[in-house]
Amino acid sequence: MAHFITTQKPIKFLHVFLTFVSLISRSLSSSPPPPSIHDLLLSRGLPKGLLPKEVKSYTLSDNGTLEVFLDEPCLTKYENRVFFDSVVRANLSYGSLIGVVGLSQEELFLWLPVKDIIVDDPKSGLILFDIGLAYKQLSLSLFEEPPNCKPQGILKNEVRKQKGFEALR
Ligand SMILES: *[C@@H]1O[C@H](CO)[C@@H](O)[C@H](O)[C@H]1NC(C)=O
Ligand SMILES: *[C@@H]1O[C@H](CO)[C@@H](O)[C@H](O)[C@H]1NC(C)=O
Repeated sequence: MAHFITTQKPIKFLHVFLTFVSLISRSLSSSPPPPSIHDLLLSRGLPKGLLPKEVKSYTLSDNGTLEVFLDEPCLTKYENRVFFDSVVRANLSYGSLIGVVGLSQEELFLWLPVKDIIVDDPKSGLILFDIGLAYKQLSLSLFEEPPNCKPQGILKNEVRKQKGFEALR
């Protein structure tokens, strides 16, 4: 009788222990966390500073569509001021973001939507911004670190001014 009890207990304990171990190993082997948006950019031949620190999350579809989510629209500056909408969308492939939506650059007091962002040749040290009217060449070194991006209170005033101006015409 005593013998029976002592063998039964360790087996029960072992069973609980193994269940515990298999639960832990299952949770450890579940898919690793996705890379940060900045690591994703790097892995696609783009500088990680292309998107600000404030990026909250992103999705990348099988067809290449990248969607980047920020808490709110914001302004930052590389060479000129750049405006990020709260959702920025583009087709991500190696060395390029094509058909960008939600990103504008200030050019001679005008806000021009950035359409494509291309790193053709990293050795050139240049990144190209297609702003519709022209390709702007910028130094890759401007994009080494993700910048801080500030809520766009200033821009709101400017947009309001532009609207007022249009109403006068
Ligand atoms: C790409 O996939 C996303 C999500 O599945 C979808 O919303 C989008 O319309 C697709 N774009 C094209 C051009 O197929
Ligand atoms: C994104 O670009 C790739 C390569 O040019 C192309 O094959 C794919 O269809 C594009 N996806 C979308 C959603 O436009």
